[in-house]
Amino acid sequence: MQGNVIDFNESKKRILNRIVSPVVPATSDIQADSTKKALEKFCNVLYAYQDTLKNDGQAITIADVLASFNEFFDEAYIEFSAMYNLDRVTKFKEAMDYAMLNGGKRIRPFLLFMTYYFCLGDDYRLLVPMILAIECIHTFSLIHDDLPCMDNDELRRGKPTVWKKYGEDIAVLTGDALLLESSTLIMIMLLGNLSTDLSPYIASSALILFNFSGLNGMMTGQVYDVLNTGNLNLSLQDIQYMYEKKTTALLTASMAIGANLSTKFRKNISDIEKLGSIIGESYQIKDDLLEIESTTEKIGKSVNSDEKNRKVTYVRKVGVEKSKEHLNELYDDAMKLIDALTDEDNAIESKVYREVIKYILNREK
Ligand code: IPE
Ligand code: IPE
Ligand code: MG
Ligand code: MG
Repeated sequence: MQGNVIDFNESKKRILNRIVSPVVPATSDIQADSTKKALEKFCNVLYAYQDTLKNDGQAITIADVLASFNEFFDEAYIEFSAMYNLDRVTKFKEAMDYAMLNGGKRIRPFLLFMTYYFCLGDDYRLLVPMILAIECIHTFSLIHDDLPCMDNDELRRGKPTVWKKYGEDIAVLTGDALLLESSTLIMIMLLGNLSTDLSPYIASSALILFNFSGLNGMMTGQVYDVLNTGNLNLSLQDIQYMYEKKTTALLTASMAIGANLSTKFRKNISDIEKLGSIIGESYQIKDDLLEIESTTEKIGKSVNSDEKNRKVTYVRKVGVEKSKEHLNELYDDAMKLIDALTDEDNAIESKVYREVIKYILNREK
């Protein structure tokens, strides 16, 4: 264990010793132990799944692994958010918890964790702030994406969207706050590891995250999406560009950061980025398909949002059958890439990772 970044109190003390105005408010009510326990529990489930694959048994499924990861994530978020005293703005805290805790699949932080594991990283506690930071950025993007001025959606994860429940003003501010918290988390991570060899990797991971979320990624993709609403002249390449930016970028960043933070990864990070591109494109095409083929009950969001908003999607452009063929091709490409990144050192991790990717690509919600 090289870092102690999970110990927010310790990081905070170090910060406060040097900086006159406190960066994070002083509360002593931080239950670091509960996150550590939830992380240990998750690791046990992950190792049990590894054994399941070794024995070819059916004891544990990848859905169990993700469910346990989600429990660990919840603890980490609860611990982190408890650093702030928001008693005078309980509605704000409620809105933030509502967005962060209720029903998200946590695919991006899970991909970060599992890519780190695939790349033989072994200091899982180190990842906690980065995992939270990535989900904060994703959650911010969804809160704003649903706003009346954007997709005007009233339902997400089977519940009213944040703006519908708490008002547009609170929704905008909650999204803004989560985006900013991602920086706080990464600064905590960096300061907690300044004296270790990991600090340049944390700094470069922060660069990957912000770059792929901002002008070189998600934000530009969202702008392109908004500007091209109803534009039937969009070519397939234009749509692929939009998906690469709005969806793939953050998924790829999660995976690239997992590889970047592992000191044992000897292969090329650009191969992980290639895998990220495949997964990102599949993820968004699958999202479009689910809107057409699934039900609001199953996916927890309105099934006619794209149509209502005159969104030009991959599926609308080439049709359902061709989209499914493309998804199959992308799936095969992903498996080949994983094989190419596998050797005797990460053979079992690779088996697990294949199942993770398979599960994500075949999602039903
Ligand atoms: C929704 O992302 C937006 C897309 C990029 C498709 P997710 O499907 O990962 O959303 P949650 O967080 O699990 O609800
Ligand atoms: C969401 O894209 C992408 C981001 C929020 C960055 P969509 O607008 O297609 O996703 P949903 O269907 O609302 O989740
Ligand atoms: Mg949108
Ligand atoms: Mg939307």
